[in-house]
Amino acid sequence: MNHNFLSIRVKIKKEDFGNDFQWGVTTAAYQIEGAYNVDGKGLSIWDEFTQKSGKIKDKTTGNIACDHYNRYREDVSIIKNLNFKNYRFSLSWSRILPFGTKLINPQGIDYYNKLIDTCLENGITPWITLYHWDLPLELQHKGGWCNREILNWFAEFTELCVKRFGDRVKNWIILNEPMVYTGAGYFLGYHAPGKKGLLNFLPAMHHATLAQGIGGRIVRDYLPKANIGTTFSCSYIEPTDYKPKNVAAARRFDALLNRLYIEPILGKGYPLEELPALRKVERFFQVNDEANMAFEFDFIGLQNYTREVIQHSWYVPYISGKIIEASKRGVKATTMGWEVYPESVYNMLHQYFKYKKVKNIIVTESGAAFQDNLTDDKTVIDKQRVKYFKEVLEYVLKAKQEGVNVNGYFVWSLLDNFEWSEGFTQRFGLVYTDYRTQERIIKNSGYWFQKFLASQSIKKIIDNQANFLEKEW
Ligand code: GAL
Repeated sequence: MNHNFLSIRVKIKKEDFGNDFQWGVTTAAYQIEGAYNVDGKGLSIWDEFTQKSGKIKDKTTGNIACDHYNRYREDVSIIKNLNFKNYRFSLSWSRILPFGTKLINPQGIDYYNKLIDTCLENGITPWITLYHWDLPLELQHKGGWCNREILNWFAEFTELCVKRFGDRVKNWIILNEPMVYTGAGYFLGYHAPGKKGLLNFLPAMHHATLAQGIGGRIVRDYLPKANIGTTFSCSYIEPTDYKPKNVAAARRFDALLNRLYIEPILGKGYPLEELPALRKVERFFQVNDEANMAFEFDFIGLQNYTREVIQHSWYVPYISGKIIEASKRGVKATTMGWEVYPESVYNMLHQYFKYKKVKNIIVTESGAAFQDNLTDDKTVIDKQRVKYFKEVLEYVLKAKQEGVNVNGYFVWSLLDNFEWSEGFTQRFGLVYTDYRTQERIIKNSGYWFQKFLASQSIKKIIDNQANFLEKEW
């Protein structure tokens, strides 16, 4: 941990990160596209899950979301306007293969072709995430991630996508945060498909791990020059105090939240020593699985939002520990209830960097939800978010200057959007979405990035035009 950080705080400049550093924004299909049942799209598990009562905080759905399906041109032009050069978006599997396999929907392919081409015409490099949680519903009816057949279904989908889009897309991300979609979707039941318990979680976890390797190999076979990664959610873990039982509980949480999915792809297997409750995963192993879980990714996508503080507890099954929420610790938190703790990204960068086989790290998601107020003159003065990004970037830079191989930073998110079980109650965007009119309003955090990412000469022009920003902050 760094204690002298305050003393070295400097005003960061884009140039400090180097010319090759990738700056981008991220979205995910279900959270922004809408158009859930048009132009041949099949349903996904989120289309079904959001219909069930009690699942989504504000009883909303992603049926319309940000209507990105119809407004992608405007959204890409906003990305360009904000001076980002990279756009990471996910493909809706059921828009491309309405039933998950076999039957191809040409209009789905057409939509992504247009999105990719629009990015390229605007000088934006597309980064495709193959799977960001919206499994075709038809496949869930056959067991979804619990059914080993998912490996064939996912291979078919991956192959189709690289064949159709690989001529123009170089950057591929296999899975988005397997820990979150298997944990929340197949163990706790508060994300789609709403399954619970270890007997659902273990096969889903093992198949997600294998899918990362399978997906990676397919992309490599078809596109030898592709830049291939996969992403992991992670939170720096600390015990409430240094009593041995709390330290041991923190170690178990670290294994579960930060190591479970990355270690098998690095050839280290699952961290079962710290998580004996997961040993039963071995019953889902088949010949060669151990070897097939590993894959040499070109980059690891690190996704970080906060840290977690852990206390031992006999009452929590399997892990004998619990997360002490930010509200109970009296620390500053986002509207998600997550502690504002920018240093977590620095700690996690170092933690991943210690793995010798990690060649390159890209921060593929980082951001914060705060209460945003639209003023009468249509501005959003989101000071807390600006401060958050500045501090996170200072920590990313510090890690980089200390030798960590971090080479990109993607903001979550371009737009306010459908935040899964939180519905539309959380605003993460650099751009405010007015859900009644679908108007996009760039927040001050968006303008902050616009200026931060501008070239030196353009910066001067922006300074003259918008010096209110400096005054505000
Ligand atoms: C990530 C997820 C995103 C977004 C973000 C903010 O876990 O990949 O889709 O929801 O969290 O909560």
